Parts: sequence; structure tokens; C-alpha cells
Amino acid sequence: MLDVEQLLSRFNPATGEISGVPVVKRHLGDLRGCFADPKAYEAALAQSNPLLYSVAAVEPAGGDGDLHYGVGMIMPGKIGDEYFMTKGHLHSWRPAAEFYFNLAGKGMMLLEDEATGESRMVELLPTVAVYVPGHTAHRTMNVGRTPLTYLGVYPAKAGHDYAAIARNNFRCAILERHGKPELIERKTLPSAASYP
Ligand code: PA5
Ligand code: MN
Repeated sequence: MLDVEQLLSRFNPATGEISGVPVVKRHLGDLRGCFADPKAYEAALAQSNPLLYSVAAVEPAGGDGDLHYGVGMIMPGKIGDEYFMTKGHLHSWRPAAEFYFNLAGKGMMLLEDEATGESRMVELLPTVAVYVPGHTAHRTMNVGRTPLTYLGVYPAKAGHDYAAIARNNFRCAILERHGKPELIERKTLPSAASYP
């Protein structure tokens, strides 16, 4: 049996930190090609390179039955009409599902079935846990005005595969329309023309 301290994870919902765990930071410059409006992206980046999100991941070496988890914190803000968000990924071991829990703030998740491209916009709010099925690309955004923090729990053997998203991005984007998040097919956006 593990020690009591090893059975606990002490996290801070206000900072997204987990005690004793290193934090990986992603800045605007790390998300080239992710946002729907490349002109707005380049203009924002020419001004500054703000922190978009951080992740503290606990991924110890262990058996296949283990769980890994991470606490993410996404800052409030937008590029054009698109909320600050994560790069997004599939799991390297595609059948791996994940559970997301809101710790603070107001979030939204974009889920995309890898086989069909079917997309869903799902609220990540306090009192609502989001189940991300296997074979599903997922990206998280902060749709509120304060930092969003959340916890994601996934099988130890899940792994993170960023390559497919880096190549094709998601089929849809979540943009602010009339003050509210809306799921929009990227190919219908005027800025889609400026993508290769
Ligand atoms: O494993 C997860 O799904 C999360 O902990 C993410 O890694 C976190 O939300 C950051 O997103 P991404 O890994 O797409 O940069
Ligand atoms: Mn994941």
C-alpha cells in the first residue's frame, strides 16, 4: 500500500498547480495554426506572446491499470472571436477515454470523432463532468472572464498524439457569436481561405 501522502494529490484550483509537480506552459506562439483567424493570430502575436494555458501532469511509470491525470489552467481571452484554448489532441492509444472535471471558471470542450469527424460542443462547468470517449480528439477553451482550471483523468497508457491535429486541425471551431459560444464548421469561415 502507498503512503498516505502518495494517495493524495494537493492541487490549487486558483493557480492550476499540483504540489511538487512541474508545470508546462503554453504561450500564444506555441499555437500557430490552431486558431481559425490566422491574421488575428499574427496581429496578436506581433503585440505580445501571452500565456494561454499551463498543465501540471502526474504521469508516473506504472502498470497498464494505472491512471494518469493533469490539472490545466486556461487564461481568459480571445484571438479574434475564438477563445483561448489548448492545442488539442487524440490519445496515442486511441481507445483511451478521459474524464474532465471543472475546478474553477467557465469552460467548453470541442470533441471530434476521429473516424466520422462528427463534432460536439460540451460545457465544462462546475457540477458537470465531461466524458471524452476513446477515438475522440479533444480541445478545451475558456469561455469565461476568469481563469478556467480543470482536472483530466486518463489511463496511464493513453499518451498524447498532437500530430493529426497539427496537420488538419479540428473540423469545427468554437467562436463567440452574439456573446455566446457557437460551434462553427471551419470551412464556412471567411478566414478559411487563407489556410493552405
Ligand atoms: O490529458 C489531457 O487531455 C489534458 O490534461 C490536456 O493535456 C490539457 O488540457 C492540455 O491540452 P493539450 O494536451 O491538448 O495541450
Ligand atoms: Mn486527453
